Amino acid sequence: MSENNTEKPWGGRFTAPTDAFVEHFTESVSYDQRLAHHDIKGSIAHVTMLAKTQVIAENDAQDIIAGLQQIDKEIIDGKFVWSTALEDVHMNIETALVKRIGDVGKKLHTGRSRNDQVATDIRLYLRDEIDDICLKINDVLKALVALAEQHTETIMPGFTHLQSAQPVTFGHHLLAWAEMLLRDRSRLQDCRKRMNLLPLGSAALAGTSYPIDREFVAEQLGFDGVTQNSLDSVSDRDFVIEFSASASLIMMHLSRFSEELVIWMSQASGFIDIGDAWCTGSSIMPQKKNPDIPELVRGKTGRVYGDLMALLTLMKGQPLAYNRDNQEDKEALFDAIDTVKACLLAYSGLIPSIHVNFEAMYKAAADGYATATDLADYLVVSGLAFRDAHEAVGQIVHYAIKEKKPLAALTLPELQQFSDAIKEDVFTVLELEGSVSSRNHVGGTAPEQVKQALKRLASLI
Ligand code: ARG
Repeated sequence: MSENNTEKPWGGRFTAPTDAFVEHFTESVSYDQRLAHHDIKGSIAHVTMLAKTQVIAENDAQDIIAGLQQIDKEIIDGKFVWSTALEDVHMNIETALVKRIGDVGKKLHTGRSRNDQVATDIRLYLRDEIDDICLKINDVLKALVALAEQHTETIMPGFTHLQSAQPVTFGHHLLAWAEMLLRDRSRLQDCRKRMNLLPLGSAALAGTSYPIDREFVAEQLGFDGVTQNSLDSVSDRDFVIEFSASASLIMMHLSRFSEELVIWMSQASGFIDIGDAWCTGSSIMPQKKNPDIPELVRGKTGRVYGDLMALLTLMKGQPLAYNRDNQEDKEALFDAIDTVKACLLAYSGLIPSIHVNFEAMYKAAADGYATATDLADYLVVSGLAFRDAHEAVGQIVHYAIKEKKPLAALTLPELQQFSDAIKEDVFTVLELEGSVSSRNHVGGTAPEQVKQALKRLASLI
């Protein structure tokens, strides 16, 4: 390190070298180097604009662009040497550029600041990550649809309070998760749309006196337009928070789904088996095959909620405009991105490995008096008030439990003890198949509706 920090782009004002602890405490390059490619992309657009507006000479811009492209390649090839003394990704790349092409490289930072630079980099980077996450959501949706297609007629108990409630088709149940993921995807797209404006040109906080062309840079970088207030542009990270909130909702949905998979695979339920390749064993109990992937997804949900909380808290105390607090946005954001991507990947791999034990599902639905509501509805059609029908069926269920019989196994005289409105045709509503196929409206569980829902989904993924 030189005596007076002259190797640091901001060193001029300083007379003493930075304390080693401070260097370590303030650096971000160990993690923000992840933004390198997008940083270079932003710099190339910026320098192209500087030449177009004649702030710098065209041949200087060409030299800078060529230098940046070489650095980009060096980074991709893993040959670039990062320096903590140079603080962050921006100063590392700028210093490397000057080293490579000489003093002309110093012209790159004309009319911009690291404050609008980093705000631009994160948007460029996050935009790409959102696109990737949407593709990964699509892969999970495809896996859910493929499994649901095989189970439009498979009957299982639907639950409320985790108690057997009414029979549903397994396909219908799976597509409930698909609906949630579709909303998750659209939330990400909304968030992408709102963040897709260029902050560059805001400079440190007040804008710049150079005759810049922000619209030109925006167009080059695929932004829908430019941000409207320089103070806001360099300081707010609401778009990072919004993304993390959307990521938290994805995780919440995946965590609920995980919980079901864990329950379904338990010996007590036995509804599914997850393929060996997607389970792990126990080091002490030789018989064990555990659903560790869903459990880990459920567990990792807490990390992403934590990231969201960290980001909300990071932002809440900051006066305008940029404060160094904002450097702390990156690790939380990166963690949320990495976690969501890994969990989506886990599910697009795991779902196709699921073996469905439809006999266990059917038996659980039959044993759970799941057609009791159908019987009450049958009595209502014969003229009873719903509350009276509810009371009569409650007594029938009580009787059936005592007799240890499913509802469909009761005889007509047994049923008629509770209501003389019950006739021979009652058995069609007591059968599970009749119950599910009668719920034949948009959003209902009937196999016919599940087939319609599958068609709709196929057109959306
Ligand atoms: N590493 C910084 C960040 O992540 C870049 C901006 C630094 N700006 C400054 N004036 N110190 O926010």
